[in-house]
Amino acid sequence: MVILGIETSCDETAAAVVDAERRILGEVVLSQLEEHRPFGGIVPEVAARSHLQHIDRLVAEAMKRAGLGFHQLDAVAATGGPGLIGGVIVGVMTGKALALASGKPFLAVNHLEGHALTARLTHGIDFPYLLLLASGGHCQLLAVEGVGRYTRLGTTIDDAAGEAFDKVAKMAGLGYPGGPLVEQAARVGDPARFTLPRPMKGKPGCDFSFSGLKNATRLLIESLPKPLSTQDGADVCAAFQIAVADSIADRTRRAIRDFKTRWPTGRHLVVAGGVAANTLLRQTLIRLGNDGGLEFLAPPLSLCTDNAAMIAWAGLERFRLGLVDGLDFAPRPRWPL
Ligand code: KG4
Ligand code: ZN
Repeated sequence: MVILGIETSCDETAAAVVDAERRILGEVVLSQLEEHRPFGGIVPEVAARSHLQHIDRLVAEAMKRAGLGFHQLDAVAATGGPGLIGGVIVGVMTGKALALASGKPFLAVNHLEGHALTARLTHGIDFPYLLLLASGGHCQLLAVEGVGRYTRLGTTIDDAAGEAFDKVAKMAGLGYPGGPLVEQAARVGDPARFTLPRPMKGKPGCDFSFSGLKNATRLLIESLPKPLSTQDGADVCAAFQIAVADSIADRTRRAIRDFKTRWPTGRHLVVAGGVAANTLLRQTLIRLGNDGGLEFLAPPLSLCTDNAAMIAWAGLERFRLGLVDGLDFAPRPRWPL
């Protein structure tokens, strides 16, 4: 079984071909980072136009790398949402057109389901497992019970973790995207010089919140002499990063307890999303997993961030259960799992 996947919901244009033996036969990801960098963030209109400009070529390239023709596919999957609607429309229309022209079924994949099922592509693990999804647009803890079966244990009540990293980087004058720049600055910073709040720590449930921490960081930066010295900036980043890691740790620790009680056969704690690149967060999650009796698994970074292999794989998982979509599928800007 071979599936083509298309991803266009944010600022990566991607196409990939995946088979049922968990092999990625051909894959391409084009980042739009340089197009958005001058604006300090993603501009939806720019993103949609760029997806439209590149998607045909990327699909052709992924198929070429796989060494396959369209007639050899079993189905075509595209991200159907959630995401920036202009981009989602481009991917969905491309997927539908290819499916129609080659006489194959079409699958509209929920982008979050793509992230949620990636560990089954990379590590072949069984359900159920606990997933922390932390990206620029999402921050959630999910019990992944099966294809299409997700129980949300916690979500952010305001900003996503990656979004907070990006905003703090902007405030500290570091640039975009913020996560890697904040992490890099924090490496030479003293995390103990400033103390920032640990949002939600000790609160019942597993929800996240980052806007209060973001504001506290802004006030801290405003209180420091301008222009911000490299050391002050590094110390702020270190204080912010450890506050995020502490807050996520508190929420994840609770989620592990909840998960182990409700899904006692589960054995893995899995991470996905761009924030999973953060070394401090990874170290924290490994420790939490060990303490809580779950093995920590992280897909390679290229499959944690947005990519089309995860969409092809989620499509494949759905296809083998007979879950195909009609060509009347309407792209969904919002689509909770
Ligand atoms: O999953 P992703 O590539 O795109 C989506 O948002 O869907 O995640 C990007 C987010 C950005 O907010 C970026 O700042 C954050 O992941 N990020 C990081 C790091 N690398 C990327 N956050 C913290 N530490 C990092 N090393
Ligand atoms: Zn994503």
